[in-house]
Order: sequence, then C-alpha cells, then structure tokens
Amino acid sequence: MKTYEVRTFGCQMNKHDSERIAGMLVARGLVESPAGELADVVVFNTCCVRENADERLYGQVSSLSSLRRERGTVIAVGGCIGQRDGAALLRTLPQIDVVFGTHNLARLPDLIDAAVDSPRPVVEVEDPSDGDFTSNLPSRREHPWHAWVPIAVGCDNFCTYCIVPYVRGRERSRTREDVVAEVTRLAADGVVEVTLLGQNVNSYGRDLYGDPRFAELLHDVAATGIERIRFMTSHPKDLSDETIAAMAQLPQVCRHLHLPLQSGSDRILAAMNRRYTQADYLALVARLYEAMPDLALTTDLIVGFPGETEADFEETMNTVRAASYDAAFTFIYSPRSGTPAATMPDQVPKGVIQPRFDRLVAEVQASALTKNLPLVGTVQRVLFEGTSKRDASVLTGRTAGNKVVHVRSPVDLAGSFADVLIEDAQTWFLLGSLIS
Ligand code: SAH
Ligand code: SF4
Ligand code: F3S
Repeated sequence: MKTYEVRTFGCQMNKHDSERIAGMLVARGLVESPAGELADVVVFNTCCVRENADERLYGQVSSLSSLRRERGTVIAVGGCIGQRDGAALLRTLPQIDVVFGTHNLARLPDLIDAAVDSPRPVVEVEDPSDGDFTSNLPSRREHPWHAWVPIAVGCDNFCTYCIVPYVRGRERSRTREDVVAEVTRLAADGVVEVTLLGQNVNSYGRDLYGDPRFAELLHDVAATGIERIRFMTSHPKDLSDETIAAMAQLPQVCRHLHLPLQSGSDRILAAMNRRYTQADYLALVARLYEAMPDLALTTDLIVGFPGETEADFEETMNTVRAASYDAAFTFIYSPRSGTPAATMPDQVPKGVIQPRFDRLVAEVQASALTKNLPLVGTVQRVLFEGTSKRDASVLTGRTAGNKVVHVRSPVDLAGSFADVLIEDAQTWFLLGSLIS
C-alpha cells in the first residue's frame, strides 16, 4: 500500500487544509507513513508569512532529493508558497513533481496521479479569488474531539505588510446552513470543540448576505449542541457589539478573544492600513472586559514596521500595558515582496528592532503572569488533550481561556472535560488537581 506524509507550515487555515489533504489521500487508499520512514508521497503545505518558511521548504525538499530518486517518492508543494510562486518554484527546486495553489486543494489526488504518469512536473495554480468555497472534502482530524471549521477564506483588508490577500484571494464566506450542517455532523462524530476559522471572522457573511452575520452564526453553531466554540481571527475594526453580546451570552463560546493589535501607534496603524486608532482599540477592549470580566485576551504584535520610531514603539508598549493581554504572538517585521510596505522608505535596521522586540516580549510575559495569578484557587473546566511529552503521569489540557493546565492523573482523560482546582500559575501554564 502506498504511504503519504503531509508537512505543514503556517496558520490554522493551513493545519486544517492539511487535515483535508490527508483525508483525500486516505480516501484514495493511501496510508499515513510511519514516523521516520520516507513516504511514497510527501506533501508540503507551505506558508509565506511565518519566519523562515521559505528556507525550511528549500532545506527539506533538497534533503529529500537523493532518497526521492531511489524510492520514486512524489514531492508535492502547495499552500501559500505554491500559490505565490507557481511554476517558478521549479527553477530553484526542480525535484518537485507537483505544484498546487491554495484554491486547487481538491484536485491534489488527481495531480499526484498525473505526475506519476508524466515525465514532467505538474503545475496547477488558479486565481485564488475564482470559484466558490470548497466545502465538504474529507478530513482526517489530528484529534478526534477537535475540529477546525473554515467559515470564510481569503481576505479583503490589505494590511500593507501582509501577503495573505494575494495568496488566498478575496473573502468568500460559507453559507450559514453549510457551517451548521458541518458542525452538526462533527458533533455526532464525537467532536466536542470546534474552532471557526477565517482571516477576519467579524466580516463573515458580508459577501453572501450584504452585511456581516458572525454574531448570528455563533448563535446557530451554539444551537447544534457542540460543547465548546472558539474562533479566529477577529479584526478590531469589525468586531460588533452583537458579537460581544453573543460571546457573553452563549456558554458554549469560550471566553477567549484573539484580537490582533499589530501596533499601538496611530501613525503606524494608518501606514499599516489597519483602520483603527489606539483609542478605538482600547475602547473596544474596555467594552469587552465590561461584558466579560474573565475574558482571556490575546494578540499579534509587529515590531519594526517601516518608519517605526522609538516614540511609536513606546505607544505599542503603552497599549500592551493597558490591554492586559493573556498572551501575544510577537513578530519582527519582515518585508514580503509584492506588499506595499516592502517598498516603503525607512525600513528599520535589525539592530534597532531587536532591543525593542526583547522589551516587548518581557512586557507580554509579565502581563501573562499577571493575568494567570488570580486564577489560583479557582475551579476551571478543562478539555484534556493527552499526556505531557516529558512525563506520562501528567495530563495536559486547556481552559476556556485557552490556558494550558497540567494535572497529575492515573488515567488519560484525552478528549474529555474535567473540573480542575488551580493551585499554581506560571507565565505560560497553570498547575492544578482534578476535582473528583
Ligand atoms: N488574518 C489574521 C492573520 C494574519 S497573519 C489577522 O489579521 O490577524 C498572522 C500574523 O502574522 C499577523 O497578525 C501579523 O502580526 C503577522 N504578520 C503578517 N505579515 C507580517 C510581516 N510581513 N512581517 C511580520 N509579521 C507579519
Ligand atoms: Fe493579513 Fe490584514 Fe487580512 Fe489579517 S486582516 S490576513 S493581517 S491583510
Ligand atoms: Fe501563512 Fe498562508 Fe496562513 S501565508 S499564515 S499559511 S494564510
């Protein structure tokens, strides 16, 4: 029997696409290759945002080359680099057999078959804005109890640093009926937690219904009987009071919001085309904490956007202090060719960025610990994910606020909920004991 391996880079959207790639290959009769063995088909699902994704792809494909010749392994490269570079990838990596785009996922099994019969590489990359939402491909979930559910693909926001609108196309939403049908099916299949995915979930439905319908969708999904609902990502400019109210009202919706700030400086925010100010953002945060005092708030931050001065960076630090984040992904600005920011003047030298970045990381860590300490002594409902990598008698799970919790337990509770008394809080995790 033929074997496959999928290597995934990038965001949750890509993780979900990889589950669908695996699902389609299994439907064609392939089996996942055992760890450490070279598969007959290796699929790279790539990203062009995350640090070093290009270098890692080049390194990994090159290191497969000699084995590929011996074994006849098929190498397929898709995702965002496949979409961005298309056939041009073959100039630097002629070992590749199949290049496919973000919009050609459903065709991958056929493209692999075509490559086996063809002496030449097969390339299929379409305009990512063409066609409808591709729904209902088979999916092979990483965990039986959790599912990623895309509610929209693409992005219309064109933040000036970001490549995503170019490689994922315009925003296209899935119908409410289609999302509800999938979540209902997943719940019947044992899924207890879904994460609704979109580059900007807050504009969900605008293309289909004329105005956003995310709050309504949360109500619809909650009515399916699924136990936990998460979602990402929320653009601050589009987060509505209806959505805040739905979050506060629906017990299924986790009290966790990922709300990317990017920068706290109004000048930089304008240059980024984010369409909110620091004051808008902090007013929104105040409304959120008022509606949900126990909300866990996380964010994305970019240091060193072109033209960022020390004063601009101080505004980011001030906003981070004021927003009381539970965690943040911190990025060093890196130019993406084809985006407006890549050719802006005043690119900030690495030597200036690094000390700012280090100060920001320290501030985020302090904030995370400050948010975790008051949880000591509380009881949290935890969805367990499995045993700790370091110690099999330690179980790991997550609270509704998406915080990692470790407890000692003689039995593996993976996939089930239990109440945990929190006994200790660290920056990135909590320790507790099971309440029987
Ligand atoms: N649609 C989501 C995710 C976008 S990509 C959103 O709007 O939040 C995830 C994160 O990568 C972004 O939030 C941003 O912080 C970071 N990012 C994107 N492009 C970047 C670049 N060129 N340099 C540094 N960080 C970048
Ligand atoms: Fe990129 Fe901005 Fe769209 Fe997010 S909202 S995907 S950062 S363009
Ligand atoms: Fe990367 Fe593409 Fe996601 S560029 S962050 S994998 S949408």
